[in-house]
Amino acid sequence: MPVDPPRSASGWGRIPRLTFGGDYNPEQWDPQVWKEDVRLMQEAGVNLVTLGVFAWSWIEPEQDRFDFSGMDQVVELLHSGGIRIDLATPSASPPPWFSENFPEALPMDQYGRRLRHGSRQAFCASSGAYRERTAMVVEQLAQRYAHHPAVVMWHVGNEFGGYNIHCYCPSSAAAFRSWLMHRHGSLEDLNQAWGTSFWSQRYSAWSQVYPPGSTPGRVNPAQQLDFYRFSSDAQLECYRAERDLISRYAPQTPVTTNFMAGTFKWVDYFRWAPEVDLVSNDHYLVAADPDNHIGLALSADLSRGLAAGRPWLLMEHSTSAVQWQPRNVAKRPGELLRNSLAHVARGSDGACFFQWRQSDSGVEKWHSAMLPHGGTATRNWREVKQLGAVLNAAAEVAGSTVEREVALLWDYESFWALEMDARPSVDMRYASEVSAWHRALWKQGVTCDIVSANMTAADLSSYRLVLVPSLYLMRQSTADALTAYTQAGGHVVVGPFSGVVDAQDRVLPGSYPGMLRDLLGLRIDEFLPLAENAAVALDDGSVGHFWTERVEARGATVEVTFTNGPAAGGPAVLHHRVGRGLVRYAATRFEAAALDGLLTRALDEAGCAPCVPGAGEGVEAVRRLNGERSWLFVLNHTDRPARIDCHGVDLLSGGEADGSFSLAPGGAAVIREQSAG
Ligand code: GLA
Repeated sequence: MPVDPPRSASGWGRIPRLTFGGDYNPEQWDPQVWKEDVRLMQEAGVNLVTLGVFAWSWIEPEQDRFDFSGMDQVVELLHSGGIRIDLATPSASPPPWFSENFPEALPMDQYGRRLRHGSRQAFCASSGAYRERTAMVVEQLAQRYAHHPAVVMWHVGNEFGGYNIHCYCPSSAAAFRSWLMHRHGSLEDLNQAWGTSFWSQRYSAWSQVYPPGSTPGRVNPAQQLDFYRFSSDAQLECYRAERDLISRYAPQTPVTTNFMAGTFKWVDYFRWAPEVDLVSNDHYLVAADPDNHIGLALSADLSRGLAAGRPWLLMEHSTSAVQWQPRNVAKRPGELLRNSLAHVARGSDGACFFQWRQSDSGVEKWHSAMLPHGGTATRNWREVKQLGAVLNAAAEVAGSTVEREVALLWDYESFWALEMDARPSVDMRYASEVSAWHRALWKQGVTCDIVSANMTAADLSSYRLVLVPSLYLMRQSTADALTAYTQAGGHVVVGPFSGVVDAQDRVLPGSYPGMLRDLLGLRIDEFLPLAENAAVALDDGSVGHFWTERVEARGATVEVTFTNGPAAGGPAVLHHRVGRGLVRYAATRFEAAALDGLLTRALDEAGCAPCVPGAGEGVEAVRRLNGERSWLFVLNHTDRPARIDCHGVDLLSGGEADGSFSLAPGGAAVIREQSAG
């Protein structure tokens, strides 16, 4: 299923920015509440709400009976209150009548069990009935509201694939076969691609091919990989059908759907990003992680990579606790502001939330909201109002880009392939490798774009350093781009177990890593994972965890050697000069301090400096640029005062920074910079 070229992006159109607001679900409330909602939205400085994400049974209470009376009223109330609307299609939650009338459209799990109604996303993305009924309700909405002056953006569905990404029902099986026919052309080519000579899996008819459901033993990995690709594409087809319908009625209005970049594994957002007019993303902190602001930064840096460096929109985060983690820790005072500004610093042109008014019933009633159960007499509300004022004060940053010199490659297919079963070690996890490298940069105060592994050498040429953590599955085009980039003077660091298999999870011929042997100037004789919790020592005093390799230099220079463990005496870190550039390889997962050391060396050699040298541990500094103008975002995540070197004026406090600026514990600033001279 080919992906069309990027849409002639209508970009942000009439969307107010910096955008401030959230999901608005008026169908949960009596109409008397709606007026108060609009009044309080105005009081908080809300300029946009996402309306109707779960409103299907409100606007089509029974099959073919549409009732827009409530939504009409709400749209007019918002319009007269000056609040713009991001109008959602309700396709993420078909009503009970849909499941009753079309039971074959309910999703099926890998054991062949139909799932029941009673939650959300109770549909199979390949179901004809689902697609037809969705088209009908979306067309009704588009016809009715396309030209309403308050509707400035369309929001298709919600977090596609979140709960129903992998469906194993007969409709999915049929759609999977068609997808495979399109991808592989013939059954012979499919047999070849899936390596079906192994375990007598050779197919003699398409009717024998199924999604990889529950089987007695482990499932063919190439079959799994194609099923994951198909599943992401099936959801994408649903998105595209809705978007195209909307665009027929509202061709000038931007269309988006909210991604879960960095936290959701199963949708290949790099295939989706060219299909939205602006990238929007949802992010929720992991309460149990004391450094969860670094996870936030990863999600934001990936959102910016998906947006090709352009501004994107934080569509959802939480004002305080969520309700879906084991222990839902409330945000500390000031954390809401720091979290929101961290997203803005990293390229979001706004900060929106799930949801406007905290529900009093249903699964999400213990999830925080902009307007909590306790109403306006709450800390939460006061901080929401403060944030509205801050975003208003910082509105001049809208449209600017983020200063960065480092790219970190990310690939969903490699993510899926590396984390399948029957790999050398369960300890080698893609997401944790990428996070460890990203965290090391964050700690150095260096901002990186997280970009697609399918970048060309020309795309990479704007970066001084490219990081490639554990990119197990690799295409020839990626290896070629990295080689050309290095030859032209670029610097690259590659992590262990990279460039090992092709797009079908087939081991590349010759010695490992088939795709990168020449670029790295080495060959790997054998992968040597360690026993659980085992570690190895290196001759520079550092420690490697869970993974080693028996490496032989073939042109590369050995920097660090394993002193014990199965690869004792062999290289652990090597570098190779290629053309005018330099590529370095690490054959183990370093402990955090050693990984910092490795990346610091690479940053120095590539000439990359932190955003603000000496900002201090736990102080986040990121710069946005627009022509000659620049803004320095500084966030103090520590409980100590911080001092940073800069010149300019803080848009939040009005304070002057004349060489240095002090920040209270937990404080935040957005400095409009002046050059020191
Ligand atoms: C997601 C969904 C929202 C809500 C929040 C809760 O982001 O899109 O509808 O469920 O999670 O955190």
